[in-house]
Amino acid sequence: MLERYKKTTQKSAILWDRAVKVFSGGVNHNIRTFGLDRCGAYPPFIVSGDGSCIRDIDGNEFVDWWMTHYAQILGHNNPAVKKALKSQLENGVHFGGLNEPLVILGEKIQSAIPLLKKLRFCSTGSESTMYATRLARLFTKKKVVAKARGGWHGGNDAVGFHISYPYSDSPFYDGVSFDYNDKSSFDQMLDKHKNDLAAVIIEPVLGAGGGIAPETDFLPHIREQTEKHGILLIFDEIITGFRLCFGSAGAEVYGVKPDLMTLGKIAGGGMHLGVYGGREDVMELAKPGAEGGRWVGGGTFSSHPMAMVAGVAAIDELHKRKDNYSKLNQMGDTFRSRLNNLFNEKEFLGIATGTGSIIFVSMLKKMIEAPLTAQKIGEAIDHDLLDKFQSILMEEGVFGYHGLGAISFSHSESDLSKTFDAIEVAVKSLDT
Ligand SMILES: Cc1ncc(COP(=O)(O)O)c(C=O)c1O
Repeated sequence: MLERYKKTTQKSAILWDRAVKVFSGGVNHNIRTFGLDRCGAYPPFIVSGDGSCIRDIDGNEFVDWWMTHYAQILGHNNPAVKKALKSQLENGVHFGGLNEPLVILGEKIQSAIPLLKKLRFCSTGSESTMYATRLARLFTKKKVVAKARGGWHGGNDAVGFHISYPYSDSPFYDGVSFDYNDKSSFDQMLDKHKNDLAAVIIEPVLGAGGGIAPETDFLPHIREQTEKHGILLIFDEIITGFRLCFGSAGAEVYGVKPDLMTLGKIAGGGMHLGVYGGREDVMELAKPGAEGGRWVGGGTFSSHPMAMVAGVAAIDELHKRKDNYSKLNQMGDTFRSRLNNLFNEKEFLGIATGTGSIIFVSMLKKMIEAPLTAQKIGEAIDHDLLDKFQSILMEEGVFGYHGLGAISFSHSESDLSKTFDAIEVAVKSLDT
């Protein structure tokens, strides 16, 4: 398997041999090995990217679906972002003090998402969910934070549990969770823990769990119940912020306002950024001198000028495209339907899930039906087949992890055709 891939990626093979000697598992983010190493190969080492295309060190080109963990909605190497970064670089990188771009970025984000009455910048999404949950605990003086099963909120202890099916508790990372899109599962959780809950954290669209959109009454139900019991609702919009519309998917697309919210990825224009913010009375606790000031709001690299200027340029560019989001979402919806039609036609046990421009393809042991939860997908998924599928796509020049990724404003119909052809090849070779 993958003989053609191995022949054309020999420089990557040499680098991989070196990488596995230095890094645990050869990588610095576990998702970045996806499939290939388990199929007797290795990931390509990437040197450059433009728009929807990335190139590896051997000169191979790929249609990129991963798009920097969904961050590059403008496409790689966007000219405005690049110009802003170059110009900041002339002045130095980071001074650990205040800078003008941080004010500008804060104002732009606040004006796009007015529910962020006060906000703070940090360097990663993981940090932002850590600080948001910490603030919720300080504010409510309660300890428990509940999350949806299958949700990934980053690598911090407050939210680092029940991520992958079968959601078993480890001695260190266990916690309270419920099934996404399942009101009765949420209610059962609430019944048991309502007196101890500081917050419920949830992505409006369940990202890592399959890009699943909320059933119409799911988020309003969570909002109503959390409000009723004095529990803070945190929307983790690190994927969905500026992805489904210009601003918050939770508030604008699904009409539900959380108490706190986190952002990252897209808002940093490809640089490292985390944002947390929301209600003024909660965010007050992050102030210097406030009780939470000791636990919230550190970070040597917070409001790093390079991230601030990239964020400003990206938000400006997205603002110009704000009326084009529906077209982008439509492109994703149509592509997902095409894939599901292909799987049905070929009687292939695959499913394309996702929302708008976010697309996951999963190989299944058995078919599943709506309403989709991460639990149902997790139970049915055939990981071995999915690894092979993903690896064949890579060989066919389509770069994705985790069952594909997301399209950007720079993806063209011909990128989608190339991807569709690659998926047809994969279906054919796996359908034995
Ligand atoms: C929804 C969500 N929350 C939090 C995070 C963590 O962000 P970061 O990787 O920047 O720490 C991620 C990253 O994939 C995410 O998708």
